[in-house]
Amino acid sequence: MSFNPLKEKGLPIEKQLRNWHQIVGKPYNKTLVDCYTRTRQILMNGIEVEAWGFKHQLQRFLTDDADKDTIAKISRIEDQQQATMNWMAPCDQSVLETTLGYEQVAVDVTAWMAQNEPDPYVKETFDFGLLEDFDHLYRYSQFAYMVEGIKPNEIVQGQTDIVVGRPTQNHHNCNALRLRKHYDKSTADPQTKVNILTLVSGEQQTHNYYAEHGFMYGDHVLRETYAEIKDVEEEHVTMYESLIDPSESLWEKFLLHEFTEVCNYYTCVEDEVDNRIKSLWEVCLDIELGHLQIAAELFKKYEKRDPEEVIGTNIVIPCRFKTQKEYVRKVLVDEVNKRLDTKKGYTTIDKLPEDWPSYKIQERANEISSPTENSTRLIQIYHDRDIVETGDKFEEKEVKILEKGLQEKGLADNTVMPDELDDMILLHEEREGEKEKLI
Ligand SMILES: [Fe+2]
Ligand SMILES: [Fe+2]
Ligand SMILES: [Fe+2]
Ligand SMILES: [Fe+2]
Repeated sequence: MSFNPLKEKGLPIEKQLRNWHQIVGKPYNKTLVDCYTRTRQILMNGIEVEAWGFKHQLQRFLTDDADKDTIAKISRIEDQQQATMNWMAPCDQSVLETTLGYEQVAVDVTAWMAQNEPDPYVKETFDFGLLEDFDHLYRYSQFAYMVEGIKPNEIVQGQTDIVVGRPTQNHHNCNALRLRKHYDKSTADPQTKVNILTLVSGEQQTHNYYAEHGFMYGDHVLRETYAEIKDVEEEHVTMYESLIDPSESLWEKFLLHEFTEVCNYYTCVEDEVDNRIKSLWEVCLDIELGHLQIAAELFKKYEKRDPEEVIGTNIVIPCRFKTQKEYVRKVLVDEVNKRLDTKKGYTTIDKLPEDWPSYKIQERANEISSPTENSTRLIQIYHDRDIVETGDKFEEKEVKILEKGLQEKGLADNTVMPDELDDMILLHEEREGEKEKLI
């Protein structure tokens, strides 16, 4: 593959302003859309939110009027792109349906990146976060069934497993433990930089979506579940952003943001199956190549360095959306018992010290009950057992996964223990058999 974005002119900034009809296009059809077109739309909205927000931070540090004008022009375009991305979703796609899409993004992006990440420490961090979003998808799936009668496969289309992961109530950590070691800006691969920035953008937007929509349901336990998972997304933003070298200058960060946008739209163009939406990705790629030219010029002017030193000479592929079931299952079975240690590394449940700092956070946060545990308690009333969809016998490993993944200490009083889950599954099988006899 040879596509050097720095050699492409892209669309000049003067031609990037679009009219309202171009900004607000026709939404996709939620029942006909390919699940990975939806994940691209969700991810690119997150990328644009970050691109826009970063530019406003940058703007507040600038003193030169010409630079301020340039950044203002670009942030306006990022804002227009954000509207286009977000509003590609139709009005009849419910908050919970969209939520399942958000967690599918997190699982499949993180899994793809973990397999294509050159830095082993960063890869391990991706694998760790992956199992948390995987459990979020499972918890929300219970509510999607109870509140709106949706089977999660209607959204994930059989591409992503729905089964228990590292239990969400165990995701609440002491902040100091979430912070990771950062990469070295002078030696890190551009792939690492783009992977992290892409993931931070996705996690940040997931947090924002839950923050802004969790209140839209009347079901109190579901509202609490949004609050609980939103807090984990906040931890994810902290965890992934701490991998970034803090000594990168603002101009270097600007360059990396535009490069990340270019790389993501480039991948969208290559992978898109819907021709109408593909042409939109092409327009946005052209826009971002124009931004990258400006970022490269400002970087050269202020840093007196060649942008190639930061982003290389080749496009990077942050994520090819396709099923990651096989990889995720392996990480799940092998690493569901992983936890954060106190030295920015990882350990397992059996090696946690009595005074592990996250116990305090978990005991406080879960002191009355954990809403995500209630998701499994409530679904028992509706369905005898939890909603799982793996398409094969993998779901039979669920009780063993829970056994391995659940801590003994710091648990909420309403925790669904592995033997209880086992009983639910048996009861469900019995009752399904009885129903068949009646028919
Ligand atoms: Fe953009
Ligand atoms: Fe999540
Ligand atoms: Fe997350
Ligand atoms: Fe941009």
